Amino acid sequence: MKKILLAVSTVALLGLSVQASAGDVKVGKKIYDRAFGRGCGACHDISSNPQLIALIKSGDLTKASFSTTLKEGKNGMPKAVDAIMAVGPVKKAGLDEEQAIDAVWSYLAQ
Ligand code: HEC
Repeated sequence: MKKILLAVSTVALLGLSVQASAGDVKVGKKIYDRAFGRGCGACHDISSNPQLIALIKSGDLTKASFSTTLKEGKNGMPKAVDAIMAVGPVKKAGLDEEQAIDAVWSYLAQ
């Protein structure tokens, strides 16, 4: 009986975590589309600027460096954390800074 209960609750927990990450990807897309008003794509969809999805796929952009760039900015790249936290769906989902950065990363890395 205990084993069955354990199995049932494990399945329930797994279901919850899958749901949470799918939700984060959606919020991540909203961040990408809306941060700074015009979205990250206003700059990053231009081929002369870093192509984030390609850099993540090739392993040239690590999660740690992604996070540092968003927090501190980098040359022509403005600090982005405040702009990210101001996006409506981020506030609505109650994400903190790390969770919001994770959400954009998950969207770009999926
Ligand atoms: C005003 C234009 C602009 C906007 C808006 C912008 N970026 Fe950038 N971003 C840049 C430029 C230009 C660089 C290249 C900086 C450099 O290395 O000289 C860059 C670099 C980066 C890098 C570092 C890439 C690397 O190879 O190290 C990351 C990560 C990044 N941007 C993420 C984002 C995200 C996520 C958003 C939206 C929240 C965003 N950027 C919005 C212009 C922009």
